[in-house]
Amino acid sequence: MSFAAYLTGTDTDAGKTLVAGALLHLARRSGCSTAGVKPVASGCERDATGTLRNRDALCLQQETQPALAYAQINPIALEPAIAPHIAAHECGVDLNVATLARGCNAVLELGRDFTLVEGAGGWRVPLNTHETLADLAKALRLPVILVVGKREAEEGTVAVRRLGGKAQEVMTLEAALSALTDEARSPL
Ligand SMILES: Nc1ncnc2c1ncn2[C@@H]1O[C@H](COP(=O)(O)OP(=O)(O)OP(=O)(O)O)[C@@H](O)[C@H]1O
Ligand SMILES: [Mg+2]
Repeated sequence: MSFAAYLTGTDTDAGKTLVAGALLHLARRSGCSTAGVKPVASGCERDATGTLRNRDALCLQQETQPALAYAQINPIALEPAIAPHIAAHECGVDLNVATLARGCNAVLELGRDFTLVEGAGGWRVPLNTHETLADLAKALRLPVILVVGKREAEEGTVAVRRLGGKAQEVMTLEAALSALTDEARSPL
């Protein structure tokens, strides 16, 4: 039986890669075939051959067994260390749900025992003027794992910016989880 999930976080640096790496590692050690996907990454660095590489994707690649090529794990690698939609705009890359879903599905269709797709930043990171990473999570129809940052976990609250809203609203983790569950289940 295979299992796949989309990993998001309460914020950037919440610990998505830490959790994804640990879960993939455990699955791999238990004899499962695994795959990690980072569909879009900004802030990539050039390796010795001048190819763009992202630290999260390299970590997921290390826990992917049998091995997959870097481009399968991280199809869109952007150099500017800024929000993905701005980095994509600067690089002339068209960032959208359809392209990202195609990259993710190519790996999901391998039918590995355990596959994790790591988003970027938080739940509703923009991809372009009308789509966000939340739309990708929904298009993939995967269960969503929300990684709660250490500070949010300790305080029991999370700062949320509503779609179209400017101000951040502080919600209890319980309320945020319930809102996220409703949204993740709603049709596109
Ligand atoms: N619960 C935790 N305890 C200790 N260190 C943590 C914890 N969660 C995350 N970290 C550390 O915080 C940093 C950020 O974690 P990580 O890279 O996993 O976050 P992320 O959500 O994947 O970030 P990004 O949005 O950049 O993808 C790392 O150095 C990680 O080791
Ligand atoms: Mg990460």
